[in-house]
Amino acid sequence: MNTSTPPSPIRIALLGCGTVGSQVARILLADAEDLGNRAGAPLELVGVAVRTLDAQRDVELPDGLLTLDAESLVANADIVIELMGGMEPAKSLILRAIDHGAAVVSGNKALLAQDGPELYEQADAAGVQLSYEAAVAGAIPILRPIRDSLSGDRITRVLGIVNGTTNYILDQMDSTGARFADALKTAQDLGYAEADPTADIEGHDAAAKAAILASLSFHTRFALENVFFEGITSVTAQDIASAAEDGYVVKLLAIAELLGDASGADGVGVRVHPTLLPRSHPLAAVRGAFNAVFVEAENAGELMFYGQGAGGTPTASAVLGDVVSAARRMVLGGPGRTETTTGHVPALGIDAVRTSYCIALQVVDEPGVLAQISRLFAANGVSIETMRQRIRPSGPDGSTTAELRIVTHRALEASLAATVRQVAELEVITAVSSVLRVEGI
Ligand code: NDP
Ligand code: HSE
Repeated sequence: MNTSTPPSPIRIALLGCGTVGSQVARILLADAEDLGNRAGAPLELVGVAVRTLDAQRDVELPDGLLTLDAESLVANADIVIELMGGMEPAKSLILRAIDHGAAVVSGNKALLAQDGPELYEQADAAGVQLSYEAAVAGAIPILRPIRDSLSGDRITRVLGIVNGTTNYILDQMDSTGARFADALKTAQDLGYAEADPTADIEGHDAAAKAAILASLSFHTRFALENVFFEGITSVTAQDIASAAEDGYVVKLLAIAELLGDASGADGVGVRVHPTLLPRSHPLAAVRGAFNAVFVEAENAGELMFYGQGAGGTPTASAVLGDVVSAARRMVLGGPGRTETTTGHVPALGIDAVRTSYCIALQVVDEPGVLAQISRLFAANGVSIETMRQRIRPSGPDGSTTAELRIVTHRALEASLAATVRQVAELEVITAVSSVLRVEGI
């Protein structure tokens, strides 16, 4: 006869019942038995905090579950799931949950990238688990593989397509020749881009995710302020078409990598910007609103994680994985170690980054132009890998202009910037049409 007492239910508070929260609630209610079996104790949804009680919801909740009183809900829960978004009151509620000894699960990348270090420290001090798999690349299990599965290896570089909206826009521009504004409009019509798409197209969203990826990959806490970022608003249809002619695709990449700084010491560079990738690179095949993260580790070699980076149900999958994991630890006792911060690698600025570049120049078509340009590249220590010249008629008098596309070997960002500045000042240059970084060559 089994005389052991059944485990007490684990009380779950859900903050937010929007795109993601409604799907978390639906699955928690519908699959309660399975999830409880996996956790080792029943999982009981005790309340769902929202702003408005009578709003239309994508889930049917039992009477009495919705509440406007998030504070009381948090005070009576074992696990708090924060899916409200924004800075406040999300941050205060998470801190309150930690104070009460509750485990916290959040998908709030913006908050974690800004105030993560403070939240992780509070959670560590209180001995509670703070997990956030959904914050980077939605459904894709990427944080736990980096944190746990690769903890016996040394990650050297992470390259990610971590924003679905911008990948959709760039893919539309590439496959249909659309202009940026038209592709953005289609993304909005299809519901990929928010009514205010600023965080996506200006690169903030990807930068927040890059900070989180870098922190876990290099065992050091990095925040948004350590990330250099550029969005995709200045990428033109011409940039995409020229890239295609040369066998490249343009992707908004989040890159976190080990670098040597001027003194040779290791540091980490974290950046987000439009990047040229050869079409043969695995990330070039990531189409539409999908996400993927490419990890390079010393012993494992190259790994790629691919899937849906957003959406209610896919993101709920990642949230619920964290919930079951937190519940299992409660059943077994102790919060366990959720991240290590023993790396102590400095964050290096964009000037320390070494990558390749593709520079498009409009130049006058006369003798000696190439020599003037290549002299400046050489003077700055930037080695040219390929140079392509196209001659175009520029006037009825039969005069011509030339477009030069120069792809460099890997060079220091600071050296490249100095080269471009000096080249732009040459009288023979009529325009620097674009400067794009290139990866994967
Ligand atoms: P939504 O805007 O769809 O939902 C937000 C929910 O939070 C709503 O139910 C809202 O209540 C509630 N809420 C907001 N402010 C308050 C408040 N002050 N008090 C009580 N309730 C509040 O957001 P999403 O579901 O899209 O996103 C949630 C989080 O998940 C965000 O951090 C987001 O970055 C992250 N995330 C989202 C993904 C996605 O695909 N949407 C993917 C990955 C992460 P009400 O309904 O009454 O207005
Ligand atoms: N706005 C984000 C994207 C949602 O487009 O990927 C997921 O974080």
